[in-house]
Amino acid sequence: MEVKNEARTVPDVDVDALVIVGFEGTPPEGHAAGQIKELYDSGEFSGKALEIAILHRPAGLKAKRLAVAGGGKRDKFDSAELRKLAGAAVRSLKAKGVRTIALSLDEAFRSDDFVAAAVEGAILGDLEADRYKTDPKKNEKQVDSFAVLGGSQSGLDRGRILAEAQNFSRGLSNEPANALTPTLLAERARQMASEYGLECEVLDQDRMRQLGMGALLGVSQGSAEPPALIILRYQPSTPAASKDHLGLVGKGVTFDTGGISIKPADGMEKMRYDMSGGANVLGAMRAIAQLKPAIPVTGIIPAVENMPGSKAQRPGDIVTSLSGKTVEVLNTDAEGRLILIDALTYAQRLGCTHLVDAATLTGAIVVALGNINIGAFSNNDAFCGKLIAAAKTEGEKTWQMPMDEEYKELLKSSFADLQNIGGRSGGSITAAMFIRDFVGELPWVHLDIAGTAWLDDAKPYMGKGATGVGLRTFVRLAETW
Ligand code: BES
Ligand code: MN
Ligand code: ZN
Repeated sequence: MEVKNEARTVPDVDVDALVIVGFEGTPPEGHAAGQIKELYDSGEFSGKALEIAILHRPAGLKAKRLAVAGGGKRDKFDSAELRKLAGAAVRSLKAKGVRTIALSLDEAFRSDDFVAAAVEGAILGDLEADRYKTDPKKNEKQVDSFAVLGGSQSGLDRGRILAEAQNFSRGLSNEPANALTPTLLAERARQMASEYGLECEVLDQDRMRQLGMGALLGVSQGSAEPPALIILRYQPSTPAASKDHLGLVGKGVTFDTGGISIKPADGMEKMRYDMSGGANVLGAMRAIAQLKPAIPVTGIIPAVENMPGSKAQRPGDIVTSLSGKTVEVLNTDAEGRLILIDALTYAQRLGCTHLVDAATLTGAIVVALGNINIGAFSNNDAFCGKLIAAAKTEGEKTWQMPMDEEYKELLKSSFADLQNIGGRSGGSITAAMFIRDFVGELPWVHLDIAGTAWLDDAKPYMGKGATGVGLRTFVRLAETW
């Protein structure tokens, strides 16, 4: 799907469908106003968010159809609402065989952020996780172009870069684990880095042994697939004013069986998205390479497969992490935190001054926040506030969780410095407290995306599967440093 600006005005665009926003209460004025008012009067359309009504041969327009898309309450309409509206419009019009779409926005909603959001919604809504379906008819219904009337080039470019990066991440997370092992993920990272001019380095198992990444290697030892530690570097072309250096660390478990503490069979197939944190960091680096923020950013993805087997780590095993601290592994299914601590220690050695990690870390965060909010955990409220502000701008709902000292009690081990689980209650918090022990004094935010990285069912604005959540927040955080 091509996205573009359209200089022609409403009556002149000869697209298959022209989309306008209709808010609750008052029908939009202007072209085809009579027909639109009839729609409202009939009760068929009320302007509620994501509603869509389609008029054929709208009066006075060259467009074949006028699609009125519900914007909800006008005073609540923001770029996040527009993103969803554009996605819903593309998905529903595509299903009807529409190939060319143009979106007309009121003057008030034509700033760069709105235009970017519209383009993002369209591109995100267009992605379907159907690449393994062989039905030749599956591509018969395709949207060829999505145009924004009177949109700015900068808004359009930003939206395209972010959404294409996000679809890249979603594509990786949607891949089955047989098609995306740690080695193959590293290969994809290398390719992407060379395409966008990022430096890429991959540490192999031998190198990680030399360095002493015992926590990460303990997780990967049960798999026939070797681990990989992927490192991507972005340097701004003009030297930065400060010494700040952002590190983005993403959990890259290409499949999580739970290991010896094996998971139940029901729903285990979804654990291919346990590398979403890593995929979304990769996508963020791809967008950062193009949007060029002023601060250096390093992306680090520890990639492993968590398998049971005769070489697998056992409950009770004690591993020595890269930091030197020892960990008693009481549950091999709490593997994400084990790979993250070695990656975060390594990030500090690479000179990162601020750390953000993203991980599908706990089922407990799904219990706490459902599938709506990312859980944020931090040792630094100012930094966390900055990240949450970036998330808000980007329409990625994020909720800060508590990190009281008292929770640390639960991680005391009888035999090692720490144990890797804290028991049933407060599971997402004890997981975060565990990681916190390895970031020292550096400002750090941990994002638990277990509830938000995957859609079990399609939304009107996005297909089933991986969401790419967090990516836009990372990029905005770097841009607004
Ligand atoms: N990858 C899972 C967490 C997860 C759960 C992600 C549901 C997405 C959806 C993680 O590695 C895990 O297994 N966590 C355990 C930790 C427990 C053993 C302390 C969990 O949440 O049950
Ligand atoms: Mn697990
Ligand atoms: Zn996991």
